[in-house]
Amino acid sequence: MKRNLDESVSLKRIDFSKYPVPRIRHHANAVLYLPLSQHRGSNFSYPAIPSRLKWSEFFTNGLQPDFIDIGSGLGKFLVEIAVNYPQKNILGVEVRKGAVEWTDNIIKGEDIPNAAVIWYSAVNGFPFIDSCSIEKVFYLFPDPWVKKRHNKRRAFSFSLLEEIYRILKPEGRFYIMTDVEEVDVYHKEVLKLYGKFKKEDEKKWDVDIRTYQEEFCISKGIEYSKLLLVK
Ligand SMILES: C[S@@+](CC[C@H](N)C(=O)[O-])C[C@H]1O[C@@H](n2cnc3c(N)ncnc32)[C@H](O)[C@@H]1O
Repeated sequence: MKRNLDESVSLKRIDFSKYPVPRIRHHANAVLYLPLSQHRGSNFSYPAIPSRLKWSEFFTNGLQPDFIDIGSGLGKFLVEIAVNYPQKNILGVEVRKGAVEWTDNIIKGEDIPNAAVIWYSAVNGFPFIDSCSIEKVFYLFPDPWVKKRHNKRRAFSFSLLEEIYRILKPEGRFYIMTDVEEVDVYHKEVLKLYGKFKKEDEKKWDVDIRTYQEEFCISKGIEYSKLLLVK
């Protein structure tokens, strides 16, 4: 569906021009897109898979996250959600270390108490997140692997859905966007096979904040799809 750029004016904004965008590669090392369990040897740097995180080191109120942003990229959505939902903690999960450092720089620069980002590959699930604890999971334009032959490198899988379902509270919401038709079809196929989420009407998409990729699509007239699911 084509959309226009007039995002709600009442939203609080961050002035990103204060933070010069660094040169960050489009992809991380390909090994990071596969679960650690599928690797042999250790001649590469792979993000840790903690079984617990001490939330007081991430959020000023010391509480666990309410929202998770999978593939938070340069963090526009993450930090704008945080400033517009000050009562909620949001955790970004991002596999490109440079993007994590950049986002962390903005969180610290703006002194945002309720946003944090970790260097992590979502393909390993979320062992550090309690079951039935999360209100919203965002999965917005996350997969850089668009060709069918790359299916095995896509984070979106039956086991990731099982993890997202586990961590969401009852009635918790799962937001998905993509601008690649093939990926949209693939998402719908995997969701159908998985079968546990209820599909919600797109009109009930209740988050006005846009990601960088979404703004890019709108500015170029690129169509993209939204899928809203409920536990
Ligand atoms: C196209 S960008 C979109 C970023 C942001 N969500 C947006 O909409 O502007 C996709 C992001 O997902 C990240 N990503 C891809 N696979 C991932 C994985 N397995 N774990 C964590 N992040 C991942 C990429 O590194 C990249 O930053």
